[in-house]
Amino acid sequence: MYSKTESTFEFFDSDNTSNKEHKIILVTGGAGFIGSNFIRYLIEKYPNFKIINFDKLTYAGNLNNLTTIEDNANYVLVKGDVANSKDVKTAFEQFNPDYVVHFAAESHVDKSILNPDIFLQTNVLGTQIMLNYSREHKVKKFVQVSTDEVYGSITGDLKATENDPLSPNNPYSASKASADMMLRVAFQTYGQRINVIRACNNFGSYQFPEKLIPVVIGNALRGMDIPIYGDGKNIREWMHVEDHCKAIDLVMQEGVSGEIYNVGTGNKWKNIDLVEYILEKMKIKNDLISYVLDRQGHDMRYSVDSRKIRKELGWKPQIDFEEGLDKVITWYTNHMDWIEEIANGTYISYYDNIYKKRMLETQ
Ligand SMILES: NC(=O)c1ccc[n+]([C@@H]2O[C@H](COP(=O)([O-])OP(=O)(O)OC[C@H]3O[C@@H](n4cnc5c(N)ncnc54)[C@H](O)[C@@H]3O)[C@@H](O)[C@H]2O)c1
Repeated sequence: MYSKTESTFEFFDSDNTSNKEHKIILVTGGAGFIGSNFIRYLIEKYPNFKIINFDKLTYAGNLNNLTTIEDNANYVLVKGDVANSKDVKTAFEQFNPDYVVHFAAESHVDKSILNPDIFLQTNVLGTQIMLNYSREHKVKKFVQVSTDEVYGSITGDLKATENDPLSPNNPYSASKASADMMLRVAFQTYGQRINVIRACNNFGSYQFPEKLIPVVIGNALRGMDIPIYGDGKNIREWMHVEDHCKAIDLVMQEGVSGEIYNVGTGNKWKNIDLVEYILEKMKIKNDLISYVLDRQGHDMRYSVDSRKIRKELGWKPQIDFEEGLDKVITWYTNHMDWIEEIANGTYISYYDNIYKKRMLETQ
């Protein structure tokens, strides 16, 4: 079952300790968009928790997302691949985490259509390897960060509930749905303590500029065309990433093991309406909008029923969409350097420049 590839494991511990005095949370994919927001959230809210960020640092992993907390004594970065059992084994033996929050994934639908294999490797096999070692190390809770896309396109005014069948239509959503099935197996067969969270589209700061909202803001700020797939009428439900982080924390600590929780706001937009709304807010003309060939198998509408997490765990979104969007527009406007470093690729050398140098210094 475990992969036999060579290990790519490296780690940097800012205070060179890995004691077990406090709760230890292993966050995979913590250098990505939601994972980095979640790590900042945990470090602020729980000064006693030790956070291990286990990330392969693919093109989507950006350590510039974590500069504000990288020197925190309770933060450790581990460069490793969830689909490489040696990397995962070493991390579990080194840190023996109490909780695992599993974000790490290939996450871009277009990329999955072009190259499905890596999506299966990371999103399915990687999840299974994380589950295997979580079981061996008696992790108190494994939280799978899944997506509303596993339900497929939702017709009419319907909303997907947690009991609805999974009906994914592209390699990304199929790989996430497959991983969800292995979570079910972990619970049913092995009695592991798990939860699955299926959230709607997130927006917020530090989102890689390949996803709709940062593409719109980033391109508008640089006067570049804004591509809209097909007729732009596909509908997505939107939530600020900080509301998602709160839901994940709540589920991690209070979710009933074995349960799935949908997380949504009910705030749904046609893509074209949202793009025009953002441009209006930025006082930029619509003529940057450029309709392009539609994505193959493009799901028309996602929508989740999130009554369960609201009723059973008391979660509700706290960030008003318009205020959240204003904050995000301001953030991207003030962080053009962050966008530029991605555009010119220099963000990739951050690890070598900063962490490798520091690792050598501490040896
Ligand atoms: N972005 C959304 O709107 C959204 C909505 C619902 C659910 N999700 C889910 O949330 C999770 C995080 O999404 P995101 O938008 O932050 O993704 P992202 O693409 O921004 O980040 C993914 C992170 O995972 C890391 N990674 C990729 N492959 C890895 C591997 N093999 N081993 C270790 N690390 C690896 C990357 O380096 C990166 O840091 C994903 O599982 C995604 O399916 C995202």
